[in-house]
Amino acid sequence: MERTLAIIKPDAVAAQHVGAILQRIEGAGFEIRAMRLVRLSRADAEGFYAVHRERPFFGSLTAFMSSGPAVALALEAPEAIRKWRELMGATDPAKADAGTIRRDFGGSIEHNATHGSDAPETAAFELAYFFAGVELAGT
Ligand code: CMP
Repeated sequence: MERTLAIIKPDAVAAQHVGAILQRIEGAGFEIRAMRLVRLSRADAEGFYAVHRERPFFGSLTAFMSSGPAVALALEAPEAIRKWRELMGATDPAKADAGTIRRDFGGSIEHNATHGSDAPETAAFELAYFFAGVELAGT
């Protein structure tokens, strides 16, 4: 079993797509091990996306991610990291396959509805960013 960090981003929460996205997560066979509605500060978003701090889109990405509530989830499945990235589709919704979450709910490369960890090391960092060990331990 593997765990990954998923975020339903502020654009998808504002558009009331949380229920539809959770339905896809459960329909794909993930176990939801933890879930929180979070409101990131700008500093929280900057810390989360620190790996992108040199990118030209860093300022606008962190402003967007701190613009409203988001939903953070710990998802578990065999190959959860790869499987969640497949279900989300490509980063740019315009390039994502038909039937993927980003294609169906994303509006732009930045406002792309969901986030997912890209490797086991980032999943460990990102899960710990949102969930204390004790919240995950009993599930
Ligand atoms: P995410 O999977 O959360 O990881 C980093 C985020 O940066 C990505 O989704 C997009 O929201 C955003 N991003 C990536 N590339 C670009 C880009 N070229 N312009 C604006 N935002 C981007």
